[in-house]
Amino acid sequence: MFDKIHYYESIGSTNNEMKRLAEQGAPSGTVVIADTQTCGKGRIGRQWISPPGENIYMSFLLRPSFEPMMASMITLVCAMAVREALSKQGLESMIKWPNDIILHGKKTCGILTEMSAQAERINYIVVGIGINVNQKVFDEAIKDMATSLFIEQNKTYDHAQIIKDVLEAFEKYYRLFVQGGNLSLLMDEYNQYLININRDIRIIEHGNVKTGIARGIDEAGCLVAEIDGYIEHIMSGEVSVRGVFGYV
Ligand code: BTN
Repeated sequence: MFDKIHYYESIGSTNNEMKRLAEQGAPSGTVVIADTQTCGKGRIGRQWISPPGENIYMSFLLRPSFEPMMASMITLVCAMAVREALSKQGLESMIKWPNDIILHGKKTCGILTEMSAQAERINYIVVGIGINVNQKVFDEAIKDMATSLFIEQNKTYDHAQIIKDVLEAFEKYYRLFVQGGNLSLLMDEYNQYLININRDIRIIEHGNVKTGIARGIDEAGCLVAEIDGYIEHIMSGEVSVRGVFGYV
């Protein structure tokens, strides 16, 4: 599935580069990897600081035939793939809904999915993955929330093996996703690794804060939360979910 890899020493953002290649007709399964990004992008308009020589910054392209509505679920599929790849390195991470990978309470990977679509049809989806692999220190502003594989294990890791394992695991989970037409074949496993499950959470949407208890994801990838005794299905997008006492 992933047979065309473009490698760059330095690029603005692998997601932007992947979009540029997609507009030029790059095939589904194309991968862009960079050693450093000068304008790495995070979710909700945030920046993704991307120093050289340490971490994985990669994006890949999908040209699926399913409806645009299903695209946001790809991020959750990808989170499962990264979690599995890290477990192959002996690291038991958890998923913070929808798509952060957490090691010992701190974020070690973020995923940013972007889509180009017409009314009923997806032109392409770009899935961008940033994994903090060998980074030794983080900026003061994020050091309480962010970690790397190195910091957790005091050991450096081979990027190539992790990238290969992420892509292989994605392929496996993606097939199940397409087969099920949603996350129905994956949600039990996802919920098994969901760090928020049965915990108090704060849901922050456009500055409004609600509190509730997370109960797992549904087959569309929404977070099912109990809020004031009612069940709500929260869609990802412009929503941030936090633990009541901290990041997770
Ligand atoms: C998040 O906010 O958690 C998402 C972070 C996504 C970062 C990755 S790094 C590779 C790819 N290129 C980007 O500009 N962003 C994503």
